[in-house]
Amino acid sequence: MTHSDRADWWRGAAIYELYVQSFADAGGDGIGDLPGVRARLPHLADLGIDAIWYTPWYPSPRADAGYDVADYRSIDPAFGTLADADALITAGHRHGIKTIIDIVPNHCSDQHPWFQAALSAPPGSPERGRFWFRPGRGPGGDQPPNDWQSIFGGPAWTRTITPDGAPGEWYLHLFAPEQPDFNWASPEVRAEFEDILRFWFDRGADGVRIDSAALLTKDPRLPDFGPQDPSPYTDRDDVHDIYRAWRAVADQYPGRVLIGEIWLPDAARLASYLNELHTVFNFPYLCCPWDASQLRAVIDSTLELHAAAGAPATWVLSNHDVDRHVSRYGRADTSFALDRRDHSQPVDLALGTRRARAAALLTMALPGAVYIYQGEELGLWEVEDIPAQLRRDPIWYRTGGADPGRDGSRVPLPWSGPEPPFGFSPPDAAKPPWLPQPAAWRELTAEAETGEPDSMLELYRTALRIRRAEPALGDGHLSWLPAPDRVLAFDRGGVLCVANLSAAPVELPAHTEILLASGPLPDGQLPPDTAAWLRR
Ligand code: NOJ
Repeated sequence: MTHSDRADWWRGAAIYELYVQSFADAGGDGIGDLPGVRARLPHLADLGIDAIWYTPWYPSPRADAGYDVADYRSIDPAFGTLADADALITAGHRHGIKTIIDIVPNHCSDQHPWFQAALSAPPGSPERGRFWFRPGRGPGGDQPPNDWQSIFGGPAWTRTITPDGAPGEWYLHLFAPEQPDFNWASPEVRAEFEDILRFWFDRGADGVRIDSAALLTKDPRLPDFGPQDPSPYTDRDDVHDIYRAWRAVADQYPGRVLIGEIWLPDAARLASYLNELHTVFNFPYLCCPWDASQLRAVIDSTLELHAAAGAPATWVLSNHDVDRHVSRYGRADTSFALDRRDHSQPVDLALGTRRARAAALLTMALPGAVYIYQGEELGLWEVEDIPAQLRRDPIWYRTGGADPGRDGSRVPLPWSGPEPPFGFSPPDAAKPPWLPQPAAWRELTAEAETGEPDSMLELYRTALRIRRAEPALGDGHLSWLPAPDRVLAFDRGGVLCVANLSAAPVELPAHTEILLASGPLPDGQLPPDTAAWLRR
């Protein structure tokens, strides 16, 4: 039995986050699509991943890049058809690649039929009961029902207009106004999502990434809250009831995995989701600066909490919501925080790339599952100079440009050739890629990097091949080895990983073989910002 045949394949999997609209455009409209993915599956099979997580592929007006879903049981016509999705799931399986879909349960699109029905229905109606509609405060009800702020900036409430043109009730949206929040106290909402899970499991999906998983339930009193008060909409105890029911659904389908997208500062609270979900994303690791003692502390606390829950840890360096880590590691401040993206800092791309190579080996050697965000295998950096008029992220618009937003991590991939669209779209494409690609990415196309022994792509390919071949890697345990200051060294049952985050070269620990290194090892020493895998 190979690793991917096992029911618990997800415990040590390498999972590729595929951001559909920026992966590959077969149709020539400048937007990635499912036939484009299909044609590029061999790239992913060569890379050596076990599963693809597709960001939302449903019909959507794309006010928030597809995280505003208008129909949870269909495919956006810009991406293809349901038949394309079925074919992709099947073709993936033929390549030994599993499919993880993205379910967005906190909110839908304002174009979703339920929300449209709610807008046409009167206050107090069952249609409105699936969302959070409330009268406004103050004279004429012209103040929002409470003081909650949208995570994307501005108030979390928008006022409706009644059919006769008068101002009406307000509705809640923790994200953009085009993303009304569901009311999870409604049994209809619960039944609907359990049915949506079954719909995709029945089509062969192997797992579900749950968007904004800690936000679903709200304090029904909808109170104002100050900085000292517990959040009335984040990580409430009753959210676990929902996932108990989801787990019961998933358990009817062997080998399926539920993955929570949960940003919580309290690691113990985060771990409590592992009572129902199989895994959760490890954002403390992603946010951690390039600093040996802080990384070690995050690794230790992650492993401790996951061991107590009997769940595998996950390790993530980048995704479509954060600055690409080549850029992050090339700045003076190498940490990341959602609420303080800062593109004004100088970036040393050579340094960032060297560290990203070392971080890749460190990350892929840790016990558990690893996530790879599309393009990180090419060493892409955050594109920080996208012209304002081309930006699409609601964060950019709703903060008046104060927050640069996430477009810079979502630029279409460079596949081949010397100039944009770099094979992302066909040569006769009607439109350019939906976000402009830097000309310098000519060096970072999959074609340019293939066969180049020092390229990021070949590093990822080799690392993933070794990770798959070595039974000690993936799921399991680690033991720390004695190491000089600012050096991380651990043993994975015979395979050692050592990463030098100090400013001086260090000796390698005793070994019989060098399996892989993120850079040259002059005089057999490990230079700064370099990592190696060794056989004990
Ligand atoms: C998390 C997703 O990753 C992000 O892209 C999206 O904007 C929010 N959830 C809202 O759905």
